[in-house]
Amino acid sequence: MSDDLKGKVALITGANKGIGYEIARQLGSRGATVIIGARNIERGTEASNQLLSHQIDARAVQLNVTDQKTIDSTASQIDGEFGKLDILVNNAGIAIDRVPPSQLDIETLRQTYETNVFGVFAVTKAMLPLLKKSPAGRIVNISSGLASLTQNSDPNYEFADMKLLAYNSSKTAVNAFTVLFAAELKDTPIKVNAADPGFTATDINQYRGYRTVEQGATAAVQLATLPDDGVSGGFFDENGVVPW
Ligand SMILES: NC(=O)c1ccc[n+]([C@@H]2O[C@H](COP(=O)([O-])OP(=O)(O)OC[C@H]3O[C@@H](n4cnc5c(N)ncnc54)[C@H](OP(=O)(O)O)[C@@H]3O)[C@@H](O)[C@H]2O)c1
Repeated sequence: MSDDLKGKVALITGANKGIGYEIARQLGSRGATVIIGARNIERGTEASNQLLSHQIDARAVQLNVTDQKTIDSTASQIDGEFGKLDILVNNAGIAIDRVPPSQLDIETLRQTYETNVFGVFAVTKAMLPLLKKSPAGRIVNISSGLASLTQNSDPNYEFADMKLLAYNSSKTAVNAFTVLFAAELKDTPIKVNAADPGFTATDINQYRGYRTVEQGATAAVQLATLPDDGVSGGFFDENGVVPW
């Protein structure tokens, strides 16, 4: 355990399991206070208790990214307790389309966007006033290699057969948000970047991913802890830039 993040407050959405939990664990093990956003508070508390048992300063909040009331109450709890937010990781996400683009039903598209797109916007908007109170705010949007229009256009891309219109395009939108928020915030200390975890074994893919959650969390943690002269408005995995 190191303590280079002592005094920092981090909110991770969808952190009760998977990559989000691991991001919380890694930030917390470096001394950050980690707030586990979970749509189900029991699952969130179970996760924060698990982290507490590893000497990590963790707490859970009920945060459903599709429910504005829980977003607003999370912001006011953080404001009341800490008066600022240093790190926001927009991690909560779903992947529920299983058919070729032309067979997708619009409800699946809407549902995917509610969480992966509108949820990211709503949480970011609500947390921005608190991030502005931090001397070094960091926003990390968990994207995906499947967001990349360059990779989606490449027939030799490793995941060329995964043409999930709802999921892939929702993450492309998240990449666009990243660029646009970074541009607006360029004269502030806040940095906004998108992270690609790679194909990671979690519930979202029934554990078919071949990367561990430790590997999946690496890029996000790097971007959450960028120095003051770090990059903003980019899309990265742990090896560097991912093409848009
Ligand atoms: N695994 C991969 O290969 C991979 C690759 C690229 C990108 N990603 C991205 O990484 C992120 C984390 O996914 P994961 O692989 O860790 O999957 P996961 O284990 O299924 O975790 C997803 C998390 O998001 C939460 N969530 C879903 N909808 C939510 C909502 N409306 N409000 C709040 N939380 C919500 C889930 O909560 P519940 O437990 O309540 O369902 C869970 O905590 C996602 O954005 C995903 O798209 C994953």
